[in-house]
Amino acid sequence: MGDDPASRVYVNNKKKACEELGIYSEEYALAADTSEDELLELIDKLNGKKEISGILVQLPLPQHISEQNVINAINPKKDVDAFHPVNVGKIMTGNFDFVPCTPAGVMAPITQSRPAPRGKDCVVVGRSNIVGKPQAMLLLHQNGTVTICHSRTKDLAEKTKKADILVAAVGIPNFITGDMIKEGAVVIDVGINRLADKKLVGDVDFESAQTVAGAITPVPGGVGPMTIAMLMKNTIKAAEINR
Ligand code: GUN
Repeated sequence: MGDDPASRVYVNNKKKACEELGIYSEEYALAADTSEDELLELIDKLNGKKEISGILVQLPLPQHISEQNVINAINPKKDVDAFHPVNVGKIMTGNFDFVPCTPAGVMAPITQSRPAPRGKDCVVVGRSNIVGKPQAMLLLHQNGTVTICHSRTKDLAEKTKKADILVAAVGIPNFITGDMIKEGAVVIDVGINRLADKKLVGDVDFESAQTVAGAITPVPGGVGPMTIAMLMKNTIKAAEINR
């Protein structure tokens, strides 16, 4: 809904990924002044449409729309973002169908090319429903010892410096600097921040961090593309579930 330029880019990338994989997709680009009722009606229609397995409402939504009402309206079996309370609850218990896309994309490099989080000190900086909270759960399910920090955490550097695995998802440009990172740590940067000069930077100050970290993901080109890969995975799972 509306004309958020970042949302436009994300939606285009998601459509392109569908095309590349041969997944049929429909886009509904609604005007910013569309009412909540109209949006809920559309979701209801798609909930009942047999050839649609997955529904994603790109966030953020305009001020007059309740994001929670919208998320609640999506059939949990078609909720490929895993934002519906039913799916959020399932992530908490560890028995889930859909993994939230961004946290799942963060887990991929951690679990595939590095020693597993088992027993490791994992620090997540950020507590959003989209990234921070589910991220902490996924690390916990892999037997990590997880600390959730955020912009108001006191003595933040003291906590981040203990992290074997550090995930930055706080949405503040260059917030985590090299002096806050433990030597050899795995640092995953989820931030996508646009500076006044249009430059795209993460939540981690890459320059200073790369000299300390054992491994670090850049922005752009780090875990961003993984988010879409995970969305495609959820969509295929949704097709199987709804068949
Ligand atoms: N806006 C920013 N990230 C996301 C996401 O993962 N899903 C949706 N639907 N909107 C977003």
